[in-house]
Amino acid sequence: MLNFAIRVARDAGRLLRDRLGGAIDIGHKGSINLVTDVELASEKLIREAIATHYPRHEVLAEEGGLSESSSEYRWIVDPLDGTTNYAHGYPIFCVSIALEFRGEVVAGVVYDPMRDELFTAERGTGAALNNRAIHVSKTGALLESILSTGFPYDIKTSTLTNLNHWENFAMNAQALRRDGAAALDLCYVACGRFDGFWELNLSPWDTAAGALIASEAGGRVTDFAGGVFSNYKPEIVASNRLIHQRMIEVLEMGVTK
Ligand code: IPD
Ligand code: CA
Repeated sequence: MLNFAIRVARDAGRLLRDRLGGAIDIGHKGSINLVTDVELASEKLIREAIATHYPRHEVLAEEGGLSESSSEYRWIVDPLDGTTNYAHGYPIFCVSIALEFRGEVVAGVVYDPMRDELFTAERGTGAALNNRAIHVSKTGALLESILSTGFPYDIKTSTLTNLNHWENFAMNAQALRRDGAAALDLCYVACGRFDGFWELNLSPWDTAAGALIASEAGGRVTDFAGGVFSNYKPEIVASNRLIHQRMIEVLEMGVTK
């Protein structure tokens, strides 16, 4: 099933890459939350492949939602993570496909077609980038860490803007980035390009594959309080383990502010 997910992620990624910079139809799910015809095509390709090979499995995908069944398997799919980037021609985006069995993610694939980078993990067997094992960084101090995050689409109307945490981390880390694709952010923690990542208001398709890849690469993944992470919870902190407690402390500063 991992090999199947890899094939499908590559096919969908190729579709995204080929249509980048061409004519795309852009719709709005919210004032700044976009949806393109390209990701609808990507999701269709992935759903059709699953329906052909595993017709009884459930699928939960960003654009079409959940197609329920009585199967113990559920595919969790983001057909284009990084939609805003894609719509602007900013070449940071990916396809994310995870497989859940009895409620636990057992395999994850994240494919970045612009760099031809394929991140994979199977529970209990480690994580890989283009078939080579990857590991989180060894940075031990938050002040020497490069961190990544994102901002919610309802930032203009919600009180949970993430700007409090952004400010606190900016003052306590070496550098912050906002690349615009949560699944890739998690993979970058996995391979040591980022030392840590936090975000709120994410959905299962943003985190399911990337969280497994980060933890299989030796990282720690929790909620903001350091508790057990679930794809169905909106908050995530992922790190190289060494800076995790410091990240939780900085997130706590944001709560009392
Ligand atoms: C978004 C990206 C972004 C994150 C948003 C997500 P989308 O997913 O992962 O980095 O900040 O919260 O919703 O909409 O590009 O699939
Ligand atoms: Ca997404």
